[in-house]
Amino acid sequence: MMSHSSAAKIYLDTNRVISPISPLLFSGFAEHMGRSIYEGIYDPVSPLADERGLRTDVIAALKELNFRAIRYPGGNFVSGYHWLDGVGPRDSRPRRRDLAWQSIETNQFGTNEFIDLCRTLNTEPMLACNLGTGTIDEAAALVEYCNAPTGTQYADLRASHGYTEPHGVKYWCLGNEMDGPWQIGHLDAAEYGKKAREAAKLMRWHDRDIKLVLCGSSSNTMPTFPEWDRMALELCWDQVDYHSLHYYAGNRDNDTASYLALSAEFESYLDTLSGILRYVKAKRRSSHDVYLSWDEWNVWYRTAVPEHMDGDWSEAPHLIEEVYNLEDALVVAQWLNVFLRKSDTLKIACLAQLVNVIAPILTTHDALLKQSIYYPFLLFSRLASGVALDVAVSAPFYSTARFGDMPVVDVAASYDEANQTNAIFIVNRSQTDSLPVELVWQDRVPDHLSAAYQLTGDNPQAANSFENPNRLVAQRVDGPAIEDGRAALTVPPLSFTAIEARWA
Ligand code: AHR
Repeated sequence: MMSHSSAAKIYLDTNRVISPISPLLFSGFAEHMGRSIYEGIYDPVSPLADERGLRTDVIAALKELNFRAIRYPGGNFVSGYHWLDGVGPRDSRPRRRDLAWQSIETNQFGTNEFIDLCRTLNTEPMLACNLGTGTIDEAAALVEYCNAPTGTQYADLRASHGYTEPHGVKYWCLGNEMDGPWQIGHLDAAEYGKKAREAAKLMRWHDRDIKLVLCGSSSNTMPTFPEWDRMALELCWDQVDYHSLHYYAGNRDNDTASYLALSAEFESYLDTLSGILRYVKAKRRSSHDVYLSWDEWNVWYRTAVPEHMDGDWSEAPHLIEEVYNLEDALVVAQWLNVFLRKSDTLKIACLAQLVNVIAPILTTHDALLKQSIYYPFLLFSRLASGVALDVAVSAPFYSTARFGDMPVVDVAASYDEANQTNAIFIVNRSQTDSLPVELVWQDRVPDHLSAAYQLTGDNPQAANSFENPNRLVAQRVDGPAIEDGRAALTVPPLSFTAIEARWA
């Protein structure tokens, strides 16, 4: 909605519902890559490790972020990974060359350690199977290993490894980025669609309750997008439950105004894929629904260069340890806004990744740093629940080179009837101007604003560091009073504000 005024109005109506918000929108992704698993999560030589070798400080931060599911073990890594390497007695697990990241994989952390981690974090495991060098048989055997009751080969193998009860893994990815020529065992859409369909059949015959995620495009910039998505979906429609998309954002042109308007790109990507889902469903005359899983998303561009992506055949090399600044955090906040606005088709989203590798958390041997992007994820994970509201916004526009005129604010909201809360998320994209904002409740007016948090700063390139860890932190701020169904606040330039309103 266009506005010539220099203030914004945000209209909220608890009847204007987009969709229930899937809790799995607040999920993460951990790959065997760089210092994500080794040194990040599993670091037995750290003074901060527990008796299992898990970093207690990392576990505490991951618990705070409350990832509802974690996708594992890759990523490009999974397309050359044989899961049998990572189970059983640790001293008999092979050291292997990981061809995806030219690193040494010790296999000291594997499927069972991952499941234990998920139980510790109270999160759903989401396992990816290898459809690169792996066979459909190997993928099916992993489902048997994880989910079948004892009495057959792989379930008994699990029991012999100390896990008599099935792990009950519900979410399974049919490979990773198989459209990418960089992928180990890359396939074209027809080849992938057939392989994924056959893998899906076998996997589901082991456990009919599993949910399967098909590989969609690695990015909307791929030459095969969106044809890959249509073809793969047409071949696998009845066998799968979710269709994936990946995207990594960046301010490559040093154009902050456009960078801060990237929600337009995210929405258009989702809209195209939603159109394909509708098309394939109609073409297949199907009553089955497939939803979207944005199972890799984040800012990643400074370290997306060969010297940060080659492990030089070492263990736990420093790979793609992106340092995040304020503008990155504002992009992440908008991305999460988009997840709420598109919650009718988007049901899973995994922040890539968790620790050290393009992550909200960086570690050294004995310290942990929360990066700028930690805070928007935390606030959404904590406050966004119930249903997403279709918010009407009237706001001034600003001009961008990439997207033309864009509203200066990006807004989303949720309403949780059971908890009697309403959360409102506001990004002010202006680099210079504060913006008066009026919240207007059109039906039920909350009794009070229970909490308000703000992440802001005057330099879009400012970042936290181990020396200065609190430069960018979400601060609790005073929420305005609600009077006559309205509340007025001013949001500073370059800011993200999360507000929680409550009834009683
Ligand atoms: O997250 C890093 C890499 O990005 C993943 O391994 C791959 O799936 C994507 O290209």
